[in-house]
Amino acid sequence: MSDITIDVQSSEPDAYGYRQFTLGGFTFRRDEYFVHVTWPTGSHVLSVDDFLRALQRDCAWNFFYGTVNFDHVLGTVNRYGTVDLFAGRYNDAYRKAELDHTENFPTDQIGGTFRTMLDDWTNETFDPFASPVETQSAWGTKNGSNTAAVTRRRVAATRMVGVPGDEEIRTDETHQINRMFADVTQDEPEVHANPGFEDEVAGFSLFAYLSRSDVTWNPSVVSVCKDSLYCPTTEEYILPIVHGNDRVEWFIQLSDEIRWDVQDRDSGAPRARVTMRAGDVAAMPADIRHQGYSTKRSMLLVWENASPTLPELIASGRAPQYPIDF
Ligand code: PHB
Ligand code: FE
Repeated sequence: MSDITIDVQSSEPDAYGYRQFTLGGFTFRRDEYFVHVTWPTGSHVLSVDDFLRALQRDCAWNFFYGTVNFDHVLGTVNRYGTVDLFAGRYNDAYRKAELDHTENFPTDQIGGTFRTMLDDWTNETFDPFASPVETQSAWGTKNGSNTAAVTRRRVAATRMVGVPGDEEIRTDETHQINRMFADVTQDEPEVHANPGFEDEVAGFSLFAYLSRSDVTWNPSVVSVCKDSLYCPTTEEYILPIVHGNDRVEWFIQLSDEIRWDVQDRDSGAPRARVTMRAGDVAAMPADIRHQGYSTKRSMLLVWENASPTLPELIASGRAPQYPIDF
């Protein structure tokens, strides 16, 4: 948390009990079912449950890698220090009609506004990180809050889960086994480190760890080797954002099945449908957007290259959009 006070521009609670927000030329308000967004050249309506699920990820991931599309119109692009907020910018029809609009904000300003909006608009009954069957509704007039859920600490190991002083493994005391992972073995490896190496040698069961995840579509960092981040996640229902890459991402399907719709990053034109089953490995190129669907809660390993040089290398053509030549 920084000490800088963020200037969040918002109204007093309106007739629905919610605050309205202004960010540059954009305005945001919610009613019982919808979020209404306006900008100088247009306006847009989104279902409030979808909007809050997307907003939750954008906030928790600090704007993630590249583009976070809330839907086919609204979204953010991470410029790493600043963030573009756009409407219609990556939608061919809006572009051709010149109705699109983009504004750039310091990350703290848009982040502060988004986090305040997320907390104000999330009622007591709704958890935007939960699968739809594990939460109640987002609908209605203002009804309490769920600050603990919307400000969950994101798991971010500095070396690896289970290493002394790093993120801890999960147990019955901290996390229940999810109903859909009741069959996952809970055995942990036995580690016998030579004296003096107790801090250097560690092991844990990633399957057991993930079986106890209480959130969906939320990659968390479980191991770090320089810029190589292992970010596994448990998936159920629909990825609430459509992610536009600024680098290659590898997916390793650890259990069950996810269907991915893959589109051109800039226009949204359909490019591929990828069905991944347990054991499948895929590399998503750097010029696409993608959204996943998972009926049975599944385990996915997202492997990220966090090098800050990548977006520029790829955008300038010095590194390829795809990961490997055969
Ligand atoms: C992705 O955009 O690559 C992504 C995001 C969230 C997930 C899985 C994949 O849970
Ligand atoms: Fe992605």
